[in-house]
Amino acid sequence: MKLKHRVAVCCWALLSLAAKAGAATMPGHPGLAGGTVIEGRAIALDPRLGNCTACHAIAGTSADGNLGPTLRGMHRLFPNKAALFAEIYDPTIAAPRTVMPPFGKYRILNRSQIQKLVDFLWTR
Ligand code: HEC
Repeated sequence: MKLKHRVAVCCWALLSLAAKAGAATMPGHPGLAGGTVIEGRAIALDPRLGNCTACHAIAGTSADGNLGPTLRGMHRLFPNKAALFAEIYDPTIAAPRTVMPPFGKYRILNRSQIQKLVDFLWTR
């Protein structure tokens, strides 16, 4: 096999692997941020994961918890996504006596799940 040919075969293999990985994690949205928004929404609404709905209403969803504030306009409330991430990771920094669990600090959710929540909430 000529070198040029080998490089081409190798690239094709990498590309098809990448496409498969994308399809597995983001159905219908390979490689687009939309995938993390959809996944974040699922995490927020799943009682076994974020269970955010136990305490929060979330704009544009059926979530109607009322222990905490309605989650809407997050991109206006927080200066950037990192600040929103920090709030979900450990809300006790801003409000030491809050009843909201420190999802990151107590490892209830991992960083990737919290990042997806942030991507979703940023659209609310
Ligand atoms: C046990 C109830 C409870 C749960 C579960 C909960 N929260 Fe909260 N959350 C609160 C309360 C109460 C506040 C208000 C902060 C305080 O206590 O002063 C809050 C505040 C927030 C804020 C700041 C919003 C604002 O308007 O200041 C965000 C963002 C947030 N929560 C996101 C989440 C997300 C995302 C989840 C799920 C992963 C979640 N919360 C789960 C009770 C909860």
